[in-house]
Amino acid sequence: MRCHDIHKSFGTGEAKVDVLRGIDFTAAMGGMTFLVGPSGCGKTTLISVIAGLLEATSGRVELFGTEVAALSSRDRILFRRKNLGFVFQQYNLLPSLSAAENAAVPLLAAGMPRKAALDKASQVLDRLGLGSRTKALPKILSGGQQQRVALARALVHEPRLVICDEPTAALDAESGHSVMELLSRTAVHPDRAVIVVSHDNRVFHFADRLAYMNDGSITKTEMQTAWSA
Ligand SMILES: Nc1ncnc2c1ncn2[C@@H]1O[C@H](COP(=O)(O)OP(=O)(O)O)[C@@H](O)[C@H]1O
Ligand SMILES: [Mg+2]
Repeated sequence: MRCHDIHKSFGTGEAKVDVLRGIDFTAAMGGMTFLVGPSGCGKTTLISVIAGLLEATSGRVELFGTEVAALSSRDRILFRRKNLGFVFQQYNLLPSLSAAENAAVPLLAAGMPRKAALDKASQVLDRLGLGSRTKALPKILSGGQQQRVALARALVHEPRLVICDEPTAALDAESGHSVMELLSRTAVHPDRAVIVVSHDNRVFHFADRLAYMNDGSITKTEMQTAWSA
């Protein structure tokens, strides 16, 4: 994933705010890149641009050599569906669907038959330690368990880019740590880039690379371990 000189402004005239001010940012396959910085500095805006949920004012995002914004809207949706997994801070699970049905959503959206999709989703839930909870509705699961269902949904279709927006922010320290451990164990893959937005410095040691953001700019990047890119 490469961003070249991304600018994003909201509003016009007097009310115009420049939220992203020329971002160059890359995330390589085979590890986790953390994007960290204070609340309001533009992290969610940046990953929304990367995910194609928001259009940049200027600049370019390349995912695996494809400039997604240049695709037709139909191809863009298909590209995103196939290549992207997203984990939100507040899980965003569908309340009337079971854990397995929630986790199966990307497969069902891609047209996989229901039985096969639920089997695959159950396998992923099992890997995340939720094998016995596949039929449970979100409301009877703990926050950590709901976040693991959201993680299963982000991984089930084996996307090449996984983006997590503050995945531990709504969790206590212990469940936050266990979600990060599972994320680092299950999401990291030689053919996949993982971007984690966080301002929870208790989990920064899970990063392979850290990019610090402040007031719409990347101010510093740091490698933490040998990086296999
Ligand atoms: N749709 C929007 N319209 C106007 N301002 C916005 C919009 N979305 C975000 N912002 C502003 O952009 C800044 C960065 O927000 P955000 O990307 O959510 O920061 P972070 O995720 O780092 O906390 C904030 O000042 C926020 O108020
Ligand atoms: Mg945010």
